[in-house]
Amino acid sequence: MSRKKIVAGNWKMNTNLNEAIDLINILKTTTKQFSSIEKIIFPPFTFLNTAAEVLKSETSFFVGAQNCSEHAKGAFTGEISAEMLNSIACKFVLVGHSERRTYFKETNEQLVSKIQHAFKNNLHVIFCFGEVLEERKSEKHFDIVKQQLENVLKNFSEKDLDKIYLAYEPVWAIGTGETATPQQAQEMHAYIRKVIGQIFSTKAAENISILYGGSCNAQNAAELFSCADVDGGLIGGASLKADDFCKIIASF
Ligand code: 13P
Repeated sequence: MSRKKIVAGNWKMNTNLNEAIDLINILKTTTKQFSSIEKIIFPPFTFLNTAAEVLKSETSFFVGAQNCSEHAKGAFTGEISAEMLNSIACKFVLVGHSERRTYFKETNEQLVSKIQHAFKNNLHVIFCFGEVLEERKSEKHFDIVKQQLENVLKNFSEKDLDKIYLAYEPVWAIGTGETATPQQAQEMHAYIRKVIGQIFSTKAAENISILYGGSCNAQNAAELFSCADVDGGLIGGASLKADDFCKIIASF
């Protein structure tokens, strides 16, 4: 699969049913003109079915889940399986978001298992990773990102990459208002492509789509998206405002 332009909105634990329906309907109408850009929203689990229904006839606007279980099914109270997600026309799942790694202590083994279950159930994955502030300050950010990529992706084949987008989200930029500069984003995205080239092949590195996430908003998206190796954004806070999300999509 070749590189695409993608804008994804991770709603995290925000909105109630009415707010979610309003936002999905507004986005469906206002983003119609951007058919060459792939749009994906990640509402909370409870609103996924509604979102998938509203967007079911869309050809460039998809619905994804913020997480899935590392188990197939069974006695795991409160968990949601990849099979359940597939059964409601959900197309994507986020795996490895820093909030899941930090607050829910998700390990590389769990991330691998989640991706395997996602693939078995026809879901595409946005695999998230990125360094924390201390790691950047001590100039370990390249090594950390390389490890995060290798530890998980070594379990998959080059063919599997057709079903994976990468999202570089430096943890120090998430929800802080401190965005990576376009230079920092470009430098890291070029490095990520190099690592993918080492694990798989030059072709794989050229073809994989790499999103930037972390305080990306309507003001800074154009500069970030103009970087050669940035294929789009994974947006948190700004994806909850229809106007801002639209402006970000229009930034390409
Ligand atoms: P913010 O855009 O709110 O910084 O969040 C980014 C993010 O975590 C997307 O997954």
